[in-house]
Amino acid sequence: MKFEQPAGHNPIDQLKVVGRSTERIDGPLKTTGRAAYAYERHDVAPDAAYGYVLGAAIAKGRIEAMDLSVAQAAPGVLAIVTARNAGKLGKGRMNTAKLLGGPEIEHYHQAVAVVVAESFEQARAAAHLIRVRYARHKGSFDLAGTLDTAVKPGAQSDTAVGDFEAAYAAAPVTLDATYATPDHSHAMMEPHASVAIWNGDELTLWTSNQMIDWGRSDVARTLNLPREKVRLVSPFIGGGFGGKLFVRSDAVLAALGARAAKRPVKLALQRPLIFNNATHRPATIQRLRLGAGHDGRLTAIAHESWSGDLPGGGPETAVRQTRLLYAGANRLTRERLARLDLPEGNAMRAPGEAPGLMALEIAMDEMAEKLGMDPIEFRIVNDTQIDPEHPQRPFSQRELVRCLRNGADRFGWQQRNPKPASVRDGRWLVGIGVAAAFRNNLVRTSAARVRLSSDGGVTVETDMTDIGTGSYTIIAQTAAEMMGLPLEQVSVRLGDSRFPVSAGSGGQWGANSSTAGVYAACMKLREAVAARLGLDAATAHFADGRVSVGGRSLPLAQAARGGELVVEDQIEYGDLDERYQQSTFGAHFVEVGVDAATGEIRLRRMLAVCAAGRILNPLSARSQVIGAMTMGAGAALMEELAVDKRLGYFVNHDLAGYEVPVHADIPHQEVIFLDETDPISSPMKAKGVGELGICGVAAAVANAVYNATGVRVRRYPVTLDKLL
Ligand code: MOS
Repeated sequence: MKFEQPAGHNPIDQLKVVGRSTERIDGPLKTTGRAAYAYERHDVAPDAAYGYVLGAAIAKGRIEAMDLSVAQAAPGVLAIVTARNAGKLGKGRMNTAKLLGGPEIEHYHQAVAVVVAESFEQARAAAHLIRVRYARHKGSFDLAGTLDTAVKPGAQSDTAVGDFEAAYAAAPVTLDATYATPDHSHAMMEPHASVAIWNGDELTLWTSNQMIDWGRSDVARTLNLPREKVRLVSPFIGGGFGGKLFVRSDAVLAALGARAAKRPVKLALQRPLIFNNATHRPATIQRLRLGAGHDGRLTAIAHESWSGDLPGGGPETAVRQTRLLYAGANRLTRERLARLDLPEGNAMRAPGEAPGLMALEIAMDEMAEKLGMDPIEFRIVNDTQIDPEHPQRPFSQRELVRCLRNGADRFGWQQRNPKPASVRDGRWLVGIGVAAAFRNNLVRTSAARVRLSSDGGVTVETDMTDIGTGSYTIIAQTAAEMMGLPLEQVSVRLGDSRFPVSAGSGGQWGANSSTAGVYAACMKLREAVAARLGLDAATAHFADGRVSVGGRSLPLAQAARGGELVVEDQIEYGDLDERYQQSTFGAHFVEVGVDAATGEIRLRRMLAVCAAGRILNPLSARSQVIGAMTMGAGAALMEELAVDKRLGYFVNHDLAGYEVPVHADIPHQEVIFLDETDPISSPMKAKGVGELGICGVAAAVANAVYNATGVRVRRYPVTLDKLL
């Protein structure tokens, strides 16, 4: 089905099931431990052997010699696979470095061997008996030291409108400030894990992956197999955050190990390996220059960002929101990419906007202060309803101003004292801060199959994943609404490459696009039902398990009496993205207390106001946003991969050294969704919301810390040493 905009009135608008707070249908399975994650699939491979990955001990260089003999003779060892005996391997499109390295080493903890043994302990013990002699080469590990050599990485890296330099020089009020965000790790709960099973030349991978179809293709490319020979299954995923958008070494090495051992192999990346073996969010250095008139209107906006990656990698797209968020006639954005020999950088938790807003939204706070304006009023004065770089392109919907105003009322913004370091509560200096939230709303083709069985139940099958987000539930709600059934009559099967290809879980496009695919399939099923029952599909009403037209009413189940009805369809968007700028908006408010003596920072209150189209399930959407706000708190106050600039690796490679927020760090969080629908976005009239929740949070925290203390920290994380 091609989506025609704007969406007219459709069956979803009944909102009998969609739009209602609904507990997760997979919740009981998860809370009782019956939802088996990849590493727990004993049932599919009771005879599985265990794989253990050996990571490179250098960041850059060459393996000169590798002695496997002692390891091979160790108890329980079935096979050891290295680049020397793995056969010719290809490389996945989504991978920058090889998933099995050697003899060249591209980054620290790049996999150089997988040991397969009868037990995990035997595999681990044997891996430590492998002797590797490395030749270490000089590498580039320090982003700040590489800025001069950074290059323009792509056609979309630079934009310019008007004459920024002239406008900036002429502006009566200006800001020129540089900000830094560190490398971040996804640090999801479930490690990258796979069980590989060969059946002849056919490979099945029970794995933990956000994007089944990308993964299937990349496994096929890496192992030089036809796509049809590869099956990926990923029904439950213990967090992804972008780290599982791509096939990683667990999947490829489990497959290679299983082939060599002639046994199914189960493999989870050891936690200490994940930080350097898998991907991370790259550090950025960002320079913001803003120029405005005394009336507070921005006349000049420049945002330049530097990040680094391995050869063949890409930049952190931290300037993209600055092209769209505020009006201003003269604009310039630039992304520059340096070569770094650190582990592979890639998408994490709202890539681009999350780190971009960490800089832009402090700059807006600084500029408001220079102008003597309230930071909310400053943002409102500079709102725009058109894409400022493409004036012919409207936003499908943009409610930033309402988010800011609603939030200000709710949070008690008028009580804020604009003079920093002027509010005290015992030993705490108290401050509040605000930031705008912005995240693009991408739409993607998404397919689903729906089955109506003779008992009147409907089953949905799509390779969409549920990474803890609630996909199972909103897909069930969609099918129930479309077919006029109670939720209990719908079963949902996800995460299997045997099912139709969905949008997958990434870039906050999953909820809207995958449910729209289910909508399309259900429209087709309604037609098939009407045809079987001899009713007119266009006027048929589906409700309470019945199909009615005029005075006639028949049970839905009757349509399947002659045999199960099965249809499949996909939603397609054509050139929608070119005609409209689709984005989601929000405002984050934060109150902090800073210990006047020690500089300890505690969050006291957080509020997010989100404008993200129709909210399909307010309960699960709220959970998404409070999770994202928590990640924003992590980015603001604690998360940082510490780079060893001599040896080229992330030092704090475990969950003790890489600090993320715990319950005690998180105060009262409130989430408000504006009551809106976006008929441009899809037949669901919904948008993404998960990643919006993190965008801007860290800057709101930093701005609150400034309001509390008068200390402006431009280098994340905002830790107490930077306040004293
Ligand atoms: Mo998201 S970082 O696109 O999974």
